[in-house]
Amino acid sequence: MPRPDTQLPSLRPGAAAAAAGRDLAPERIVRLEEDAVVVLDQRRLPEEEVELRCRDAGELAEAIRTLAVRGAPAIGVAAAYGLALAAASGDDVDEAYATLLAARPTAVNLRWALDELRPHPTPERARALHDREVARCRRMAAHAAALLPAGSRVLTHCNAGGLATAGYGTAVGAIRAAWERGLVERVWVDETRPLLQGSRLTAWELEQLGIPHAVIADSAAASLMARGEVDCVVTGADRIAANGDTANKIGTYGLAVLARYHGIPLYVVAPTSTLDATARSGDAIPIEERDGAEVTPRFAARNPAFDVTPAELIAAIVTERGVHRPPYDRSLRP
Ligand code: MRU
Repeated sequence: MPRPDTQLPSLRPGAAAAAAGRDLAPERIVRLEEDAVVVLDQRRLPEEEVELRCRDAGELAEAIRTLAVRGAPAIGVAAAYGLALAAASGDDVDEAYATLLAARPTAVNLRWALDELRPHPTPERARALHDREVARCRRMAAHAAALLPAGSRVLTHCNAGGLATAGYGTAVGAIRAAWERGLVERVWVDETRPLLQGSRLTAWELEQLGIPHAVIADSAAASLMARGEVDCVVTGADRIAANGDTANKIGTYGLAVLARYHGIPLYVVAPTSTLDATARSGDAIPIEERDGAEVTPRFAARNPAFDVTPAELIAAIVTERGVHRPPYDRSLRP
């Protein structure tokens, strides 16, 4: 069983306090009210901070499908609240379960959270699930921070921050924890075509936290690596198979190949709610195909939203349990 590294450098003076001061409170990202699941509408960020009220499972499923709430753990938390709302409103819980489950196919956290809630879909249990997910993020971030050398220039892809996890973040949580310890010089933020989760959401979160960063075109990653300007790649995950193959935002696989070529470690940071022991390898992970109009409204387009990075290209997978090294079929086992 992996053990957390306890030999961490001391905190950068004032950094933790500064970051905490501008923290995105979990209940600001998603919460349950008496008659609605309320989400911070991520489609409108960073221009506007607008809340969206979802009054039943159908409206919430639509919010998940259209990425008003997105990111694997955040989708799971929102769905848990959706099931609790259905039960409290006297709606058919089985129907709500099916509606929410069908919203998006790749992030396994959706199914995991719905299955956790289904036997007793109460608001208290949904809120406890939310609290536990945020606590997991904080634990895995501390483990992952220990992997980063001082002065790290970290490249990240998509958005695996508080917005994506309903609080604190996975990959961005790790970067944040490392920065608070004085280990991070700068973050390279892949813009993340086609929906720009990097340049809209990750950059916004890093700005709020005061962490030095620069957005790059996705296609700039290779040359930055070749010039020696990237020390590690840190990403989140949407589903991790039993052998460590990892589905994440489209483009992650390409980064992993580049990182291996340039001798740079790629770390995946994700909670155990993202592990899918029933998928033996990445071949069993369903990949969402989204509307081609997200790529170009003018021409025919193909738009797979995720890709699978083979386990052999991943230097470590970090969960709240610790740092898992290959072979993952052994190290990820509970
Ligand atoms: O399509 P999205 O925006 O829901 O994509 C999910 C992601 O944000 C990432 O792939 C992320 O790394 C995993 S969620 C922390």
